[in-house]
Amino acid sequence: MLTSNIFFRLAYRLGFKPWDSGVPPPELVEVIEGARRLPPGQVLDLGCGTGTTSIYMASKGWQVTAVDFVPRAIKTGRTKAVRAEVPVRFLVGDVTRLSALGIEPGFNLLFDQGCFHSLPEAAHPAYVREVTRMARSGGTYLLYAFGRQPEKRRGRFFPKGITPDDVRTLFADFELVETRPGTDPFGSHWYTLRRR
Ligand SMILES: C[S@@+](CC[C@H](N)C(=O)[O-])C[C@H]1O[C@@H](n2cnc3c(N)ncnc32)[C@H](O)[C@@H]1O
Repeated sequence: MLTSNIFFRLAYRLGFKPWDSGVPPPELVEVIEGARRLPPGQVLDLGCGTGTTSIYMASKGWQVTAVDFVPRAIKTGRTKAVRAEVPVRFLVGDVTRLSALGIEPGFNLLFDQGCFHSLPEAAHPAYVREVTRMARSGGTYLLYAFGRQPEKRRGRFFPKGITPDDVRTLFADFELVETRPGTDPFGSHWYTLRRR
């Protein structure tokens, strides 16, 4: 976890953030205001980065709690939220230790674009435990993650990736409602899960 923390701190410091597109992904837009629209409620943005998706959801009437362990990313998110004139509860912290941040369970929607697949495998059980605890029964969890990467691409910092089977097995207290392939070259998927 320390290695990944250092990697992301350095990345934000250097301005290396290819994931930070500045716009919400269509898969999220669909859930917030499109064909699969949910009524606004409480949403948890896990590994929110500079808050692009958090601010988007807040602008659509959601009560957003946004967590990232890089203070610089959260600081940028706070500045962007002030500029956009939307309230977002930004917290610096570890997504595998949400309870320590004083976050109460009961979220209708949990969103993770690229955080879970950044975690070391040893941290998966803690992440799953926290996400499971935070979701209200019937709540939706929208997860974007790279697919399993070939050996040659598995560096120290590049995510190993996960498979739909991993997701099904790990998130046993959720029903995997939909698996949709992403459009990047990393075998990614968008997973829609529902808390039992
Ligand atoms: C690939 S970036 C995606 C950021 C954001 N979701 C977006 O789409 O722009 C992954 C983010 O997860 C954060 N992250 C990784 N591991 C984390 C952890 N254990 N706790 C909190 N944040 C974490 C990183 O700092 C980074 O901002």
